[in-house]
Amino acid sequence: MQRLTVAGIRHEAQLREMLKEPAQSLRRGGLVAFPTETVYGLGANALDEEAVRRIFAAKERPRDNPLIVHIASEADLRDVIDENQPLHEDVRRLMRAFWPGPLTLLLPAGARLAPSVHPGQPLVGVRMPDHPVARALIAEAGVPVAAPSANRSGRPSPTTADDVAADLDGRIDWLVDGGPCAWGVESTVLLLEPDCARILRPGGVTQEMIASVIDRPVLYAADVFDAAASPLAPGMKYRHYAPKARVHVWWGEAEAIDEAMRAFLLEGVQDDDDPMVPALIAPDDFVRRFGWALAEERQAALPADAYAEELARHLYRLLRAFDRAGATDILIHGVDPAHGIGAAVMNRLHKASSGRVRWVG
Ligand code: TXA
Ligand code: MG
Repeated sequence: MQRLTVAGIRHEAQLREMLKEPAQSLRRGGLVAFPTETVYGLGANALDEEAVRRIFAAKERPRDNPLIVHIASEADLRDVIDENQPLHEDVRRLMRAFWPGPLTLLLPAGARLAPSVHPGQPLVGVRMPDHPVARALIAEAGVPVAAPSANRSGRPSPTTADDVAADLDGRIDWLVDGGPCAWGVESTVLLLEPDCARILRPGGVTQEMIASVIDRPVLYAADVFDAAASPLAPGMKYRHYAPKARVHVWWGEAEAIDEAMRAFLLEGVQDDDDPMVPALIAPDDFVRRFGWALAEERQAALPADAYAEELARHLYRLLRAFDRAGATDILIHGVDPAHGIGAAVMNRLHKASSGRVRWVG
């Protein structure tokens, strides 16, 4: 695996010049990991069946889980979607409002796409990432880029180049390091149904944001906040986003969260056969107020004034770091799923904890 660092560079012409080699590799069937504003993606030429199959092998990804195709401009749609089916006006509104950005739209798939991009599905997920490195790489490659998150299947998505390398070094051709990802959780996946828009996976483009540009109601798929329900997005059925440690989430009133976490720790300490090594993620004011002091490598106090955004940005990186620190149980102060990025964070926490999410008031 060759590694190239372009962190901090935003100028398009300069990026395209620097990205010539990985872009050429991508066009010719190579696997290239690259940063987006959400998480790192593992890219292959979406028109090349053999290249796309290599993604599934490198990630050990189940073959029935479709990939998102990334484009650099609206003109790139030509090779990706079925041109004989006119785009609905609502789709155009969503593209105008949220592209480039963390919104994946499910659209009728074009005939040129490699079949493994959308196995057994008439629709293909498409998005235009809001990251200068991603767009320069795609533009320079000159082909649409199929890219799932650049993790081994079942592990948390990578939000830094080092996390990509930990999972995929030796299995891919290039790793483009563009620094840490801004959002930290994957894009919103949206399906337009005849009478509504359905969020199959919540992300940075929220229910309120979508509802503000289209007239139909915007609903969540049944499994979004229920780990047991069966998902509409094939990828959501796998044990996802999960570290090796068990994850436990409490949200609600601060005093009640503190009390519930301490009660939980006490039970663990009393179990001699299976000693608990806890880790904690909580707002910094909560950590101070209740005097939490776990070992430094197992405690993350995130700024309280933008806690939901900070939790989204750092969650996957911390889950991986706590695994390395030997944690057996990760205690997480959750957020309100009814506001903004909170829906995406709590959805991932439902999946990562297999439903161990409790409201305490
Ligand atoms: O932010 C993101 O979306 C990142 C970056 C790299 O762009 N990509 C990403 O890809 O998260 P992946 O493959 O890890 O997740 C794609 C999700 C899966 O849950 C998949 O099942 C769903 O989108 N999906 C893709 N195509 C679909 C389709 N045609 N129908 C239903 N669900 C689909
Ligand atoms: Mg993924």
